[in-house]
Amino acid sequence: MLTAEDKKLIQQIWEKASGHLEAFGAEALERMFITYPQTKTYFPHFDLHHGSDQIRGHGKKVASALGTAVKSLDNLSQALSELSNLHAYNLRVDPVNFKLLSQCFQVVLAAHLGKDYTPEVHAAFDKFLSAVAAVLSEKYR
Ligand code: HEM
Repeated sequence: MLTAEDKKLIQQIWEKASGHLEAFGAEALERMFITYPQTKTYFPHFDLHHGSDQIRGHGKKVASALGTAVKSLDNLSQALSELSNLHAYNLRVDPVNFKLLSQCFQVVLAAHLGKDYTPEVHAAFDKFLSAVAAVLSEKYR
């Protein structure tokens, strides 16, 4: 469960990241593809070269979905329901992969936001991404 303090920290750090969302999303994807190459198997139709249009475009979509989640911290399931259906029924992404992207996204925030990404913010954001991953995983049976 996210506490009131977690929610405040998540909203504040998201505000700080807001000018860089496309870049942060793309970097998180690139880190995921390099660090966990098995994740590339879901994107056979993408040009996975550094900075490709598809990586940048997809980075923007992922970051924007996370932005929706940040605005909906009290009803994540509802806010991400369509995305949850898509990943479970259409894309059939193995849920273990959500943790991998979450971790990469956190590395990006830490690398770019530096001292603003305090241990407390890290802890709150980790809980947030775990909650998002749980929603994206809830349609699998
Ligand atoms: C598509 C978000 C994790 C694989 C998408 C889309 C969004 C999104 C917003 C576009 C949906 C649309 O076009 O309507 C997220 C979020 C994630 C996440 C917020 C976790 C925090 C993952 C992971 C994988 C993955 C871990 C696989 C390793 C895909 C694929 C597509 C997709 C293959 C379709 C891409 C395309 O053909 O354009 N995701 N995703 N997603 N996602 Fe995810």
